[in-house]
Amino acid sequence: MHRKSPWSLVLALGLSAACVQPPPAPELDDPLPGLSDDELERFEQGEAIFEGTFTAAQGLGPLFNAEGCAVCHSEPTDGGSGPLDETHVSGIGDEGECDSLLERGGPVVQERATPALQALGIEREPLPAGVTASAQRTTPDVFGFGLIDAIPDMTLLALADPDDRDGDGISGRANVLPGGHVGRFGRKAAGASLAAFNAGAFRIEMGLTSSGEPFENTLAGQPLPTGVDPLAEPELSAETIARVNDYVRFLAPPAPARLVEAGQRGKILFERVGCAACHVPSLRTGDHEVRALRNQVLFAYSDFLLHDMGPELADICMADAESAEFRTEPLMGLRHNGRFLHDGRAATIRAAIDAHGGEAALARDAFVALGERERAALLAFLGSL
Ligand code: HEC
Ligand code: HEC
Repeated sequence: MHRKSPWSLVLALGLSAACVQPPPAPELDDPLPGLSDDELERFEQGEAIFEGTFTAAQGLGPLFNAEGCAVCHSEPTDGGSGPLDETHVSGIGDEGECDSLLERGGPVVQERATPALQALGIEREPLPAGVTASAQRTTPDVFGFGLIDAIPDMTLLALADPDDRDGDGISGRANVLPGGHVGRFGRKAAGASLAAFNAGAFRIEMGLTSSGEPFENTLAGQPLPTGVDPLAEPELSAETIARVNDYVRFLAPPAPARLVEAGQRGKILFERVGCAACHVPSLRTGDHEVRALRNQVLFAYSDFLLHDMGPELADICMADAESAEFRTEPLMGLRHNGRFLHDGRAATIRAAIDAHGGEAALARDAFVALGERERAALLAFLGSL
């Protein structure tokens, strides 16, 4: 806030309410409003690490996908989505259950190697034995994710309807993870804690270990040759991990654009045709040690539950999530993205809606059955997010 002279305050009070300017909407990559000076400082320190790159001498690799978080999360600004895709894989276990290949290098394939590994003729992680499905994953944005982290498990559990008791054809279920928490991060909602997801990203995407992720990526389960990983584990300090986590969790959610009249109608239609049954417009965060994350309303347009989206979208399974099950993708910030759905197969928002199947088929059909002007209104609403 700019400091105003007492005189300008008198003037402002004397003018009509219509002239009072609302506070400017936060821009992408801005911190949450209401952070303390100390939190703001930690946000900025974490931002520098998120935007920086690492070298092999600093612990990068030996197997990795990129040199820094913002090499992937870069568009339209740091913390955003990005053009770099990666490959995830899964298999079928002995009893037909999902095998996330955790003993054989994990679901994320590392497609690059440091010079030390390359010198031994290893250019990337080989695909492990037992892979039965493979998937492309685009890089999503992470704006407002601290607020998603702060949504209580109970809130998401209350939205779940695994047996479709209300008979609306939609049976979202919570991805309850071994620790008992409700998963919400990643396309399969396989991560329940933002801090753990971020530390996992350092190790999985960049080959940078920390106290919570102390083991290097393997060659599809086979140990790395000796001598290719000069730094002792953990390669990153707890401080580095904590600052990057502060940056990600303190990023403000994207502010929607001002709705024009058609968009107002579109918002009503969005609810009427059944999109909002999964893309739940708003959720409230719970109690939190950080004031800016406590009891806040977040317009994420998601229930963070897993839904069966039909065979056309199906690819890999991941732990409890089946191949056709995906977390409802949050729609906040939609207008900043140029590719849609988990593998970027949809070039437009319209194409993304048309590709909805499974539990979302009824809502898709209701959308397609709208008159042309109504459809345009709904798309105008989505284009404002
Ligand atoms: C090689 C590219 C790449 C790098 C580097 C990378 N990410 Fe990601 N990130 C991804 C992809 C791809 C996904 C989506 C995973 C999925 O679909 O399940 C993702 C997902 C995420 C998510 C969850 C988003 C969601 O929609 O639930 C967070 C949070 C995140 N990354 C943070 C980070 C942080 C922090 C770093 C740096 C330590 C990082 N990422 C480095 C590609 C990358
Ligand atoms: C049954 C739950 C469900 C319903 C109903 C539903 N969606 Fe979705 N939506 C999803 C899931 C799950 C995804 C992610 C699918 C994927 O990535 O393959 C998604 C993805 C999207 C995306 C792409 C977002 C992105 O950034 O990639 C858009 C746009 C979208 N939905 C709009 C709509 C609209 C509009 C409606 C109503 C006509 C609707 N959805 C109804 C579950 C649902």
